[in-house]
Amino acid sequence: MFQTLHETVQYIKQKTNQFEPEVGIVLGTGLGGLVNEIEVSFSLMYSNIPNFPISTLEFHSGKLIFGILNGKRVVAMQGRLHYYEGYSMQQITFPIRVLKALGIGHLFVSNAAGSLNPDFRKGDLMVINDHINLQPESPLRGRNDADMGPRFPDMSQPYNRALISKALEIVKAEDIICHQGVYVAVTGPNLETKAEYRYLRIIGGDAVGMSTVPEVIVANHMSLPVFAISVLTDEGFPEVLEPVSLEEILETARIAEPKMTRILSELIKAL
Ligand code: HPA
Repeated sequence: MFQTLHETVQYIKQKTNQFEPEVGIVLGTGLGGLVNEIEVSFSLMYSNIPNFPISTLEFHSGKLIFGILNGKRVVAMQGRLHYYEGYSMQQITFPIRVLKALGIGHLFVSNAAGSLNPDFRKGDLMVINDHINLQPESPLRGRNDADMGPRFPDMSQPYNRALISKALEIVKAEDIICHQGVYVAVTGPNLETKAEYRYLRIIGGDAVGMSTVPEVIVANHMSLPVFAISVLTDEGFPEVLEPVSLEEILETARIAEPKMTRILSELIKAL
């Protein structure tokens, strides 16, 4: 892993004139709009970066974008990789290791998720304050590289408390509806049955999605502070469950996105 990582990092440094990002941002499904706020210095296609997995989803464009956001040097992943695309957990989290090696000190993650909590409605936002991993594997499975992090990383507070508090101040000041809660990660790509939504609520979930947790585990492995936020794109309420299409999920993400962009952008400014 060290050799592969080194090769990728060297390539990126050379192509970006040694740009040293302070902040890493992973943009979820339908949530690429934050990129429009970045004064872009460099943009690299995943397909040109050695060892980078390529997103197989046509609506994920797959670019690493380097630039300035609110005075901070940032690198944004436009197009994230999902376990359901067929990659290994190590492959989908490789970019997070790369961003850390490039110098980021904070990681911001967004995603689209289904609501499990009847008080959290479609179009609302949810700051993730904890998670339940129902994906079948940890990205840390296999030999541990002690230079990266410990064999048994602590997960008692995987989402940075100070960033959560700051985000809640921002939403109050901006009058945005934003809850906080527990994100459950499933494999997908199918959505859940009524019985599964019921089960996910019973075990303690407020929202369900198919991403984020692998990246968060790897960030915690490297002691990288994380902030994560979900846009709730559909309601997984078993008693009244309606069929939902990808188009509807993307449309809700598109409508709610400016609120999320505002929070992330203000948080990054306040770092
Ligand atoms: N379930 C799983 N993943 C999702 C959902 C959902 O309801 N909505 C958006 N991503």
